[in-house]
Amino acid sequence: MNTTQRLALVTGANRGIGLEVSRQLARQGLHVILTSRDEGQGQQAADGLAADGLAASYLPLDVTDGQRIERLAALVQREYGRLDVLVNNAGVYLDEGVSIFAVDEATIRETMEVNFFGALLLTRALVPLMRANRYGRIVNVSSGYGSMHEMGGYTGAYKISKVALNAMTRIMADELRRDNIKVNTMNPGWVRTAMGGPHAPRSPAEAADTIVWLATLPNDGPTGGFFADRRPAMW
Ligand SMILES: NC(=O)c1ccc[n+]([C@@H]2O[C@H](COP(=O)([O-])OP(=O)(O)OC[C@H]3O[C@@H](n4cnc5c(N)ncnc54)[C@H](OP(=O)(O)O)[C@@H]3O)[C@@H](O)[C@H]2O)c1
Repeated sequence: MNTTQRLALVTGANRGIGLEVSRQLARQGLHVILTSRDEGQGQQAADGLAADGLAASYLPLDVTDGQRIERLAALVQREYGRLDVLVNNAGVYLDEGVSIFAVDEATIRETMEVNFFGALLLTRALVPLMRANRYGRIVNVSSGYGSMHEMGGYTGAYKISKVALNAMTRIMADELRRDNIKVNTMNPGWVRTAMGGPHAPRSPAEAADTIVWLATLPNDGPTGGFFADRRPAMW
């Protein structure tokens, strides 16, 4: 990696939207660190991008493992000395269609651990690297289920985790505004991945487009926003 090349880190990058975001960021000339909890799958994904001539490497990361997050941040500091882009993409969807009165507590906690605390703790660990360079682009992969304006019943654990992620986005964006670190959240739509299933109308590439756009915003671009298809979305 050369010293001027921007460095991006993507969570849940072994498959689905995360892998496609990694590919598109690397195609734009960034060096991408793919992370995943399964080392074999993550390394294979990074090797696949590298085989296409893209700048990609792999680091293991389960976003629910606080010690691993701290070790990863120290390693990125030591090996690269910078971080320009963070995509909080890793997510679980464990309570589809289940009533808030029926979903078990362990499922609610696990959902919050991955979808909210994972993004919170990883971002807190990595922001010092961005602050040091007075540059950063953080993209949180949320969902239409994180919109309050159309909030209805069922799938409560997932919806609440994405609402929390959206609130975190606004809070962090405000606190990081003066450091030229932009924090935005987005709804990828219903996407053909393991999570979205084979009948979803959108491809991972279509979903990745807005994420990559937010990850590469110019200095006068938006921060603290919620987007879908590159346009502001209703909170
Ligand atoms: N697909 C859709 O229709 C849709 C709609 C709205 C929002 N989203 C959001 O888009 C994001 C990506 O989802 P996707 O559609 O690409 O689904 P996916 O194919 O199921 O991918 C989810 C990714 O998250 C990873 N992950 C789960 N728990 C993790 C943990 N503890 N630590 C690290 N990684 C973990 C998975 O890793 P493993 O392979 O190890 O399980 C996988 O790489 C999610 O945040 C999701 O909520 C998706």
